[in-house]
Amino acid sequence: MSETILITGGAGFIGSNLVHRWHRNHPKDRVVVLDKLTYAADRSQIDGLEGVELVVGDIQNLELVRHLIETNGIKKVFHLAAESHVDRSITGPGAFIQTNVVGTFSMLEAARQAWAGQGDCRFLHISTDEVYGSLGETGKFHEELAYAPNSPYSASKAGSDHLVRAYHHTYGLNTVTTNCSNNYGPRQHPEKLIPLVITRLVKGEAIPIYGDGLNIRDWLFVEDHCAALETVMLKGLAGETYCVGGDNERTNLELVDLLCELVDQHLGRPQGTGLKQKTYVQDRAGHDRRYAIDASKIQRELGWKVATGFEAGLAETVAWYLAGAKR
Ligand SMILES: NC(=O)c1ccc[n+]([C@@H]2O[C@H](COP(=O)([O-])OP(=O)(O)OC[C@H]3O[C@@H](n4cnc5c(N)ncnc54)[C@H](O)[C@@H]3O)[C@@H](O)[C@H]2O)c1
Repeated sequence: MSETILITGGAGFIGSNLVHRWHRNHPKDRVVVLDKLTYAADRSQIDGLEGVELVVGDIQNLELVRHLIETNGIKKVFHLAAESHVDRSITGPGAFIQTNVVGTFSMLEAARQAWAGQGDCRFLHISTDEVYGSLGETGKFHEELAYAPNSPYSASKAGSDHLVRAYHHTYGLNTVTTNCSNNYGPRQHPEKLIPLVITRLVKGEAIPIYGDGLNIRDWLFVEDHCAALETVMLKGLAGETYCVGGDNERTNLELVDLLCELVDQHLGRPQGTGLKQKTYVQDRAGHDRRYAIDASKIQRELGWKVATGFEAGLAETVAWYLAGAKR
């Protein structure tokens, strides 16, 4: 049966990939995207998709959100809208508290009011593994771990996760939360590491590497993340949280070296050209050393698994940016 779903932040990186996926897999559904169109958005990524309607607005506008849910009969909400860049949260944390904490509160409250007395509704909150803090050389993040956020970004996401939990336990709202590792793929804003490196390699500009370059991230192809979100929306258990990751740990240096190789190859220039652009810069304040996800719960209980190998996903990503894609 067809229905209308709401995706907040659907003009951003992960949100726009999710809009495309849902549109492909559920062609009869309508998708309402609520997005404020901040600097991080690119509406052209979702323009022209039949059945997809962009509403430009702020998730902090409770009345607007409730109106959208009620008038469209929405029973599924994917909540991705957020301020998402750690560096920006260090120089200007206020917007992160407003959008990530206050905005998530408005979303939850609007859903609670609009869905009063209705069954069969679900609020999926998309969060990050950064809420767990930083790992040493061993161990992985998992659902039972205590939160220990270190940046204003991760603290604001942790705050929103707690609100989601409270709305489930206090009001019985059907919520599910995912905590995902670093994503990569098409449609990401050029301020983020992978698109930044690709575009600077092409232009022959310096590639900044924070500190010693040995910080480790667990990289996941965005399409695999979107598949996890679809799975959790359709099969996850109310009130649960699911960690999502690629089981794919790389140091920043390993990642940059691989990107140099791929871009050199694509541009048909001698291998090693890009490597000369690497430049070490002062480390980010409070830079978490290592993130890694134990995704066994979502694999075991919901049958989700990674479908895209890192080298293949990265090659596809490089090809997308070099094809003159919009970002
Ligand atoms: N990118 C990652 O690697 C990653 C990993 C794990 C979790 N996440 C989470 O996934 C979600 C999406 O991340 P992303 O990388 O796509 O972010 P993004 O910055 O690319 O996109 C965020 C979108 O939210 C919109 N937005 C911001 N403030 C808004 C507001 N007040 N009202 C309405 N819209 C607003 C922006 O315009 C933008 O389109 C975020 O919640 C983020 O915390 C991201």
